[in-house]
Amino acid sequence: MINIVSAFFLAVGNGARLPVTCWETPDPLSVDNPGGENATSNATSTIVHDVLIYGGGVSGSHAASRLREMGKSVVVVEMEGRLGGAAHAFHDPVNNKTANYGVQILWNTTAVRNLYAHYNIPLTTVDIAGGGRPNIYADFSSGEPVQLHLYSGTEIQATFVRLFKLETQYPFLKDSYDLPRTIPQDSDLLLSVDEFVQKHDLQPLIQLFNQFLQQWPEFRTLPALYLLKYMIGAAGPDILGKTTWVHNANNDNGEVFRSIQTELGTDALLSSTILRTERMAEQNATRVWVQTPTGVVEVHAKRILVTVPPVMENMGVFDLDAQEEDVFRSFRPMNAWTGLVRNSNIPADTSITNVGANTTFQEIQLPGSQGYQPTPDPLLHSWVYTSYDPATEQETRRLVLAELERLTGSGVIAAEDITNNLEIVAIKHHHNYALTVLKELIAGDFYSRLNDLQGHRGTVYGGAAFTTQGTANVIQYNENHVLPMLASV
Ligand SMILES: Cc1cc2nc3c(=O)[nH]c(=O)nc-3n(C[C@H](O)[C@H](O)[C@H](O)COP(=O)(O)OP(=O)(O)OC[C@H]3O[C@@H](n4cnc5c(N)ncnc54)[C@H](O)[C@@H]3O)c2cc1C
Ligand SMILES: *[C@@H]1O[C@H](CO)[C@@H](O)[C@H](O)[C@H]1NC(C)=O
Ligand SMILES: *[C@@H]1O[C@H](CO)[C@@H](O)[C@H](O)[C@H]1NC(C)=O
Ligand SMILES: *[C@@H]1O[C@H](CO)[C@@H](O)[C@H](O)[C@H]1NC(C)=O
Ligand SMILES: *[C@@H]1O[C@H](CO)[C@@H](O)[C@H](O)[C@H]1NC(C)=O
Ligand SMILES: *[C@@H]1O[C@H](CO)[C@@H](O)[C@H](O)[C@H]1NC(C)=O
Ligand SMILES: *[C@@H]1O[C@H](CO)[C@@H](O)[C@H](O)[C@H]1NC(C)=O
Repeated sequence: MINIVSAFFLAVGNGARLPVTCWETPDPLSVDNPGGENATSNATSTIVHDVLIYGGGVSGSHAASRLREMGKSVVVVEMEGRLGGAAHAFHDPVNNKTANYGVQILWNTTAVRNLYAHYNIPLTTVDIAGGGRPNIYADFSSGEPVQLHLYSGTEIQATFVRLFKLETQYPFLKDSYDLPRTIPQDSDLLLSVDEFVQKHDLQPLIQLFNQFLQQWPEFRTLPALYLLKYMIGAAGPDILGKTTWVHNANNDNGEVFRSIQTELGTDALLSSTILRTERMAEQNATRVWVQTPTGVVEVHAKRILVTVPPVMENMGVFDLDAQEEDVFRSFRPMNAWTGLVRNSNIPADTSITNVGANTTFQEIQLPGSQGYQPTPDPLLHSWVYTSYDPATEQETRRLVLAELERLTGSGVIAAEDITNNLEIVAIKHHHNYALTVLKELIAGDFYSRLNDLQGHRGTVYGGAAFTTQGTANVIQYNENHVLPMLASV
């Protein structure tokens, strides 16, 4: 395995380009830049790796760590200034406490435990039932408290048994979307979640679906495939109670990614984006031009591992063929905003959950956040807001503050003077999140065509679009599918 083998610097201004071929084996590509694009004709250095990983969120960071363990050299291209995707932590200087926002809890799977153990980072158990801490339900569109219809434990248990039985029909959803090429028109997978729930009398589980699927606004209209995929997923919730939930014992879910970032050093190209690719899989030689803060870097790799959401916004810079473009154009992107609010007057141990007063499943009405969760910092509550339509940071801040005002106006939050101190101290945008496609495409052979891209033109794929949301799912997909494909590179 080889790492950075050379760095050739150009004299700024003379436009000359030094030949920078430095392959282990003879370079099958021409030294000249065939495209002649200005952006890529002035690469300041060339680096050679086994695998270029596009995106340094959960999938990309985990894959980088595991591939290095396997003796491969990797370089990670990440547009943010840090690795870890939605795993954010905020250190509050006011009272010296750290609070997560974005990713909160993980399923306690072997792969998750192994990742944490590798970096000596402690995990602690999370009681997702809230440990008896107060939770208030309210409709955030009006601010009014809502009496949630509660089902008995017996009803919920019996409904689970029925759902488990249904799930056994879909073993191919265990860790990927390994759907048959032809799906019968009357398949439950093509029903909307709404129709699926009614057909199988799953109403007692609705609040649970509401919690799990709130990442998809208006989830009732989603094809039931996505509900089943989430429930069946490799690391999927084991409702019989065998799965425990964990998080970083230091209340800092970003820590493991900082460890990976430290390990990668200069092999993590942060604040960087891909400008262009030239893929020649049959020769195990791919060229990628990366815009980094210090100039354009030309990367030669045997394979590309794509972990960014595979939408045209991210993939349009690739040398795409029609087969690839057709798939990437089909995804429906979604937005998530997440952050922390300080001095909301919500009691430190209390969560407020958004539910719809007048919606079929008491699902939230948009726009609206999912709720406010306590953090280890008594002054801070975390929130997540999702939408299909893009919102700006300013709009989102306004929405959150207006929501808190309504909840205060209705008395759900004690009406002290919040306007002076109330503050959103952290806010982050995740767009192209939770990708889905229309049921017509599912009924066609969309997921077969998606999976056909695995390995196509020297490009391998990981990330949530190929499995489902959830850190543990994405990591499991890496273990089961991505790493084996890269083992012999
Ligand atoms: C608000 C929120 C809360 C969540 N809470 C939880 C939770 O509690 N528990 C849980 O298990 N999961 C949670 N998730 C889901 C979890 O974060 C995702 O399932 C997981 O991150 C998906 O991994 P991924 O690698 O596919 O994508 P990501 O982790 O999102 O990684 C994609 C990476 O690609 C980068 N990127 C995107 N576009 C480009 C580009 N053009 N160029 C370069 N880089 C790019 C992004 O910056 C990001 O770092 C949450 C997600 C969100 C948004
Ligand atoms: C590329 O560079 C040439 C000469 O430096 C310039 O004339 C041309 O406009 C540039 N093209 C683009 C697309 O920037
Ligand atoms: C080319 O390199 C110069 C000097 O590093 C830089 O100023 C310029 O922006 C680069 N051009 C492009 C298109 O990246
Ligand atoms: C902040 O907290 C950390 C650990 O929780 C502690 O080690 C540190 O001394 C504290 N700093 C201050 C200024 O109190
Ligand atoms: C995670 O699960 C394992 C195996 O079931 C268990 O031994 C361990 O205590 C759990 N860890 C936490 C932090 O809950
Ligand atoms: C729900 O419907 C009732 C009756 O139409 C109405 O009074 C109430 O304002 C609605 N609540 C919300 C939050 O829309
Ligand atoms: C490409 O790599 C594979 C192993 O991943 C190897 O079998 C094959 O011979 C290589 N092809 C070339 C042209 O080097």
